[in-house]
Amino acid sequence: MTDLTAPLGPLAYFLDLHPSLGDFRADALEGLALEQKAISPMYFYDEHGSKIFDRITTLEDYYPTRTEKSIFLGNAAEITAAIGAKTAIFEYGSGSSEKIQWLINGLVDPVAYVAMDISKEHLVENASNQARMQKIPVAAVCANFHTPIDLPQNILPNPDRWLGYFPGSTLGNMEPETAIAFLNRASDTLGPNAKFLLGIDQEKDPKILNTAYNDREGMSAAFNLNLLTRMKRELDAVVTIDDFEHYAFYDEKFCRIEMHLRAVRPTEIVISDQKFAFKKDETLHTEFSYKYSIDRLESLVESTPWRLEKNWTDEKGWFATCLLSNN
Ligand code: AVI
Repeated sequence: MTDLTAPLGPLAYFLDLHPSLGDFRADALEGLALEQKAISPMYFYDEHGSKIFDRITTLEDYYPTRTEKSIFLGNAAEITAAIGAKTAIFEYGSGSSEKIQWLINGLVDPVAYVAMDISKEHLVENASNQARMQKIPVAAVCANFHTPIDLPQNILPNPDRWLGYFPGSTLGNMEPETAIAFLNRASDTLGPNAKFLLGIDQEKDPKILNTAYNDREGMSAAFNLNLLTRMKRELDAVVTIDDFEHYAFYDEKFCRIEMHLRAVRPTEIVISDQKFAFKKDETLHTEFSYKYSIDRLESLVESTPWRLEKNWTDEKGWFATCLLSNN
């Protein structure tokens, strides 16, 4: 169902695509019945989980956020010059709209900013704040990453081109086929002659990666275990949280962090009278976080209309900001 309400408060428009927030109970029951028990990482992000994630991004051991920021700050002039003038920005998963500040002030004659996120209340609040702050029209789209988005025409001033903005390396939380489908849809949304600024976390010494996802403050563990607390609270699940531990490791073959909840003793999770037994050491898979070299990112985008035009990295080569174009 498409519901276009224009304008809304200070927003030039608010497009609500009514994204599914998932059916936690149905997905938990289905995932727990699999041979490798699994649940989608989207269930990490309830209010508490989102707060824990925000803490993670500030940790010494979790390098991606500060490294990405340093790339923007160190290369701002070059990045904004490569994007070009009279661009309209479409930010995927805009969250608190914090990362748009890294970019927008340096752009030459930007035309508009459209924030997209799944969580309606936060989106409207944060985009409205941006609308009050920015000198250009700001709009918002409530959607998820996995549905096609047709942007309303003739409401915003016409840009020379659209820029998709997807910092944060969230592309790495998608399996490669899903990432390809996402990039294909983004090209459809943004139209011809578009660019796409993408954050990716690069392959590196597994020790650094393992530390980032097993931080000394125990925040990654709290983030992961919060899924069980959510199951208890929202699904009346019967689960002994102490029977599980956070388990995250880098798999060099697939270039990805795997995150699981591992049973430390034989136990079970009961949801809606259905019992799911765990043997000792059996796991519930909760997340992948793929790491890319520039070469592997280039081969991924070969299956999409995008081509890698330029990339910027930090001095250790830990993270990369990549500019794609679909000309
Ligand atoms: C959101 N995403 C890029 C984070 C990552 O690093 O894959 C999620 C995360 N999982 C554990 N720590 C952080």
